[in-house]
Amino acid sequence: MRENKNSTVLWDTEVDRSVLRKKFHSKTVSRRDYTSVQIKKVKKQRKWEAKSGIHLPKRDAKNDIERLLVSRRTRRVPSNREINLQDISDLLQFAAGITDEKHQYFSYPSPGALYPCTLFLSINLAGFKEKIYRYNPYKHQLEEYIDASMKRIELIVIDEGLRKFPIKIFFASDYQLLEDKYGELSYRLLNQEIGHIAQNISLYSEYLGINTTCIGGFYEEQFKQYVPNFDLLYVMVVG
Ligand SMILES: Cc1cc2nc3c(=O)[nH]c(=O)nc-3n(C[C@H](O)[C@H](O)[C@H](O)COP(=O)(O)O)c2cc1C
Repeated sequence: MRENKNSTVLWDTEVDRSVLRKKFHSKTVSRRDYTSVQIKKVKKQRKWEAKSGIHLPKRDAKNDIERLLVSRRTRRVPSNREINLQDISDLLQFAAGITDEKHQYFSYPSPGALYPCTLFLSINLAGFKEKIYRYNPYKHQLEEYIDASMKRIELIVIDEGLRKFPIKIFFASDYQLLEDKYGELSYRLLNQEIGHIAQNISLYSEYLGINTTCIGGFYEEQFKQYVPNFDLLYVMVVG
């Protein structure tokens, strides 16, 4: 039974708009002891049916944005570049922060301007605590979300080599407002938004001379021990 502002309705016929997402999400989670996800080697060539069309002339990069796009690569070892608080602040401001204070718009596009993705960070650098921080873009600050030892945080990342990066960025969501508005479409939209943020972080880090790797291989339940109300959808290591 559902209470309505004006009346009480006997049957709630509106379906739970999060059912599909919960089912899909739960079926694709990697666990330390078990995974239903099978990663297989693919030996086949990618098919591309040849068609005639308009030839597009390629040329060398000639300005900063083109050179940045050309140079972006997944770099699986940390750079030797020293990273300070200002670098982290700049990275978050320009790649994932509010760039239009008046309208509260961010540096990346978002479905319905709802900004459903929240960034959590672990930072193994001088001056930072053994905490999971949450980036608050509204105040542009790193909030001390919860205590967490670096060693345990590292275990979220499956690849041991990638655990060595000093900064780990966790892309998470509690789906606030999103499913009320977009229902079953939400999961796609959320992941699309996350892709934009990750690309901003990749490119801006490349510009700073800092290495990054985007990671689909992570143990979400390790993260949820600390942040139970958010799903973990993507991880980046930066350093
Ligand atoms: C969604 C996604 C998930 C990825 N997951 C991993 C990962 O778990 N581990 C890893 O080493 N690289 C990962 N990568 C990086 C890809 O392997 C890499 O982008 C690809 O090999 C192309 O190389 P490039 O990024 O240097 O152009 C991922 C990339 C994307 C977009």
